[in-house]
Amino acid sequence: MTTQHLQTLDKQHVWHPFTHMSLWLADDPLVIVAGDGMHLIDSDGRRYLDAISSLWCNVHGHRVKEIDDAVRAQLDRIAHCTMLGQTNDQAIILAERLIAIAPRGLAKVFYSDSGATATEIAFKMAAQYWWNLGRPQKHEFIGLTDGYHGDTVGAMSVGMTAAFHKPYRPLLFKVHYAPAPFPYRYPVPGDCGVHALAAIEEILKAHHQTIAAICIEPIVMGAAGMIVHPHGFLTGVRALADKYDVLLICDEVATGFGRTGTMFACEHENVTPDILCLAKGLTGGYMPLAATLATQRIFDAFLGEPHEGKTFFHGHTYTGNPLACAAAIASLDLFDKNDLIASVRRKSLELTELLSCVNELEHVGDVRQKGFMVGIELVADKASKRPFDPKQRVGAAVCRRVRDRGIIVRPLGDTIVIFPPLATELIQLREIVDAVYAEIARIGELPSVSDRGDDQIAGDF
Ligand SMILES: Cc1ncc(COP(=O)(O)O)c(C=O)c1O
Repeated sequence: MTTQHLQTLDKQHVWHPFTHMSLWLADDPLVIVAGDGMHLIDSDGRRYLDAISSLWCNVHGHRVKEIDDAVRAQLDRIAHCTMLGQTNDQAIILAERLIAIAPRGLAKVFYSDSGATATEIAFKMAAQYWWNLGRPQKHEFIGLTDGYHGDTVGAMSVGMTAAFHKPYRPLLFKVHYAPAPFPYRYPVPGDCGVHALAAIEEILKAHHQTIAAICIEPIVMGAAGMIVHPHGFLTGVRALADKYDVLLICDEVATGFGRTGTMFACEHENVTPDILCLAKGLTGGYMPLAATLATQRIFDAFLGEPHEGKTFFHGHTYTGNPLACAAAIASLDLFDKNDLIASVRRKSLELTELLSCVNELEHVGDVRQKGFMVGIELVADKASKRPFDPKQRVGAAVCRRVRDRGIIVRPLGDTIVIFPPLATELIQLREIVDAVYAEIARIGELPSVSDRGDDQIAGDF
């Protein structure tokens, strides 16, 4: 099929996620037909560096022989069978591998298929944990402002992403929100980590009797704009959870699997959550698979006679899918074989070096980085930190121009995200940063900024 035919059919039949469809219909969408290492290849044969890891999940690149072979070998055995009333070898092997690398104290793996289901399961697990212990009043949650845990109803409730979730507010359950410790834009002077911890403690003092768990994205809040928390914040949250007898849920859907320079972000502060949510990089970015890990203490609260009603009644058709588990096992093997965590640490330092000049640009307010997670916040005025008018869609316009240079990046509002596969080479990192730098430097020429009209870009948040 020609590119034009595919685009026409897409516009006729497909509804895209997080996409302004009215703009999409007026655009010529990129049609990806293949991948090769760090590149995506479109229907006209053009190559693009995948600098967002195909939405923050790709780890080793595309068409990696070891993962391809593992999935093909699994196809020769079985593609799918249920985990209800039976089990499968790949899910068992993967669970053992995950527990071996997870923060010490996590003991059980509950599978699902996306980040949102991993967090949704964590919330149900936390609420039922207390219910099973005879404390059903403990069913509320603490979340952070601008936290993001996915788009299902529970995940939207605990997250607070007004821009995405406003129409659904009436559907959501009650959550206590504490401010996210965001050094660049914290509204109160002083140490934002200390202040945010004090705010959490205030909530706990007043409501701990009804609170089941605190849920945070540890170390880096992804969708909020790659906000890097001050060191010690996670340790402080763990201590507060213990002090007030509530559970700690860490959502590592974005930060897990080496992204921040450790296998899991919790390792930066040596913290073990009671529940850990994983997805995205779990299969190396190959297949939809997620896992919610829990401690033995939580698991034990679900044991008892069937008539006691302590069973965790949750599951999905594709829970523990063997093909996806086989991909995940092959991905974990590659972490070992390529000493990937050490290499990410090394390359992260080089990435910091590359990014240092971006900070000097007129319209760059803040450059945030932890490992291979980067957010470059664009501002209209650097001194006052005044943002651009969202209607100008400056972040989207910059990303579109970067794409014309053969590199795929996406904005979160006016924060440009760089989130490349962990296997990206230094020379490719340089290519990405150079292109982003060049287009940020040209912001003044954008039609929307120079008031010559609006750049209509369909696919940003
Ligand atoms: C921290 C975090 N939690 C949950 C999710 C939701 O994951 P999914 O899109 O796989 O449902 C995301 C997605 O970006 C995320 O960043």
